[in-house]
Amino acid sequence: MDQISNAVQYSGIWERESQSFESHGVYKQLAQEIPLVPVLEIGCGIGNGTKYLADGRAVLALDNNEYLIGKASVQLKEAGQSAQIHHCDLFELNDEDYQVIADFQPKAVVAWFIGSHGEDILRAP
Ligand SMILES: C[S@@+](CC[C@H](N)C(=O)[O-])C[C@H]1O[C@@H](n2cnc3c(N)ncnc32)[C@H](O)[C@@H]1O
Repeated sequence: MDQISNAVQYSGIWERESQSFESHGVYKQLAQEIPLVPVLEIGCGIGNGTKYLADGRAVLALDNNEYLIGKASVQLKEAGQSAQIHHCDLFELNDEDYQVIADFQPKAVVAWFIGSHGEDILRAP
């Protein structure tokens, strides 16, 4: 019987996929299309897109996967970039989440390659 993937499994699966995109220069190219304004990133993954966005822009990234957030934090540090990563679920934003976004005052929103693991997909509205 097939198993439903969970957050930690997905973080490993997405890391491999994301590194493939990165090795082909996909994130660098995508980030070049984004103006130099404060950017709200939906879903930071392992931070491959975040680190290019953070080069010249303030970035607030939202993500609900603590394992991917951990990988993204390491990746940003290694790249010498910084971004604000906020742990929340896009489908269940609370007052604090809305306040974090409002305080940041984004001028652009990106959501690249959005997807998640089976447990997340089955419980989403
Ligand atoms: C396929 S990955 C893409 C990551 C990144 N945008 C990239 O291109 O490398 C999707 C990301 O969205 C996040 N995500 C999925 N559903 C979410 C939700 N409901 N709330 C917050 N983040 C979510 C996942 O945890 C994951 O980091």
